[in-house]
Amino acid sequence: MLIEQVDAHDEAVFVEWFGVMRAAELATRPGEPGILLHEELALAREGQAADPDNRWLLLLAQDGDRCAVGAAKLSLPMRDNAHLAELELAVHPDARRRGVGRSLAVEVEQRLREQDRTTVMAYVDEPPAEQGCSAGREFAAATGYALAQTEVCRDLDLPIDPVRGTELEQRCAPYAVDYEIRTWRDGCPDDLIEDRALLEQRMSTDVPLGKIDLHEQKWDGDRYRRVERRNAGMGRMFFSAGAVHRASGRLVAVTDMGVPRAEPERGYQWVTIVLEEHRGHRLGTLVKLAALEALAAGSPRTKDIRTWNAEENTPMIAVNEALGARTNGLAPCFQKLLDT
Ligand code: ACO
Repeated sequence: MLIEQVDAHDEAVFVEWFGVMRAAELATRPGEPGILLHEELALAREGQAADPDNRWLLLLAQDGDRCAVGAAKLSLPMRDNAHLAELELAVHPDARRRGVGRSLAVEVEQRLREQDRTTVMAYVDEPPAEQGCSAGREFAAATGYALAQTEVCRDLDLPIDPVRGTELEQRCAPYAVDYEIRTWRDGCPDDLIEDRALLEQRMSTDVPLGKIDLHEQKWDGDRYRRVERRNAGMGRMFFSAGAVHRASGRLVAVTDMGVPRAEPERGYQWVTIVLEEHRGHRLGTLVKLAALEALAAGSPRTKDIRTWNAEENTPMIAVNEALGARTNGLAPCFQKLLDT
């Protein structure tokens, strides 16, 4: 078997790499939408440009006939968390149980040692029928990874029931009289950008992390604007809502939902955070309701929104369930500490 690094500017090779990832994704969740080729290509080129926020290292495994059988993606944070790497590794469904995954895992570790990365983490997607017994879970154990946290996947059908939405809004609004709910699309308003970046930084430590070895990220407005440009480059539209504390003028809560323009049927929940000192005012529910309303108006073809929450994140799960989200499998996070 041959394992080679993929240059995202070599489109033919990238398409082979992507084909393995997509085939694996479809084997796990048949018929479901997933990451799109042009989205992943844009992200990969960004991750391989000079001075990225996250460097992308892609590996393609080919068999003796030069047929693409395995793929790996390593995302290496460059502004903080210099010890860490996030791994996505997949083997084509027709080439499993022949050691392709294990060979890729060995190569991944070799590359990470060269980059002085000591912690590697990887999520496994487990649809309901595979909860707790997926090939990915077995593979992680066989290659020395330990469970660091379990996330639960939920889908929220859209549009949400209007009666439920109105009742929720009416119940929550009295708790939030000191806050103004604002919405925006694709780009954060200039007057909120530094607060938005700070919320991203807080997101990196304030959400439950289980045993995940993530340290505080460093964010400022410039970095956040780069993320927005990257999201736009993917071809996704973003619907956001935030809560501004009237007395201080500060943005203290936010939620973002992303929808692929090319295939808008499935949307994805991105960040939701309420600063710790402003919790208890139902801001999580209110920003989500506002963003969902903007999304329903701006992207009427979107049928559902997928979200993942750590299983111990009780407040966020309560918000999602109040909106009507239903569970749809697990996403366990596995982690391995490499010897140096
Ligand atoms: N059932 C039980 N054990 C399994 C299975 C399975 N279906 N698949 C792999 N293993 C374990 C076994 O211990 C196996 O060793 P053995 O064959 O000697 O018994 C060991 O993992 C290595 O197996 P490989 O043949 O190298 O694995 P394969 O090439 O089949 O790839 C993979 C496994 C990557 C999990 C594949 O099924 C896949 O692409 N799944 C979807 C994506 C995924 O879950 N990726 C893993 C993320 S976790 C991580 O990267 C650390």
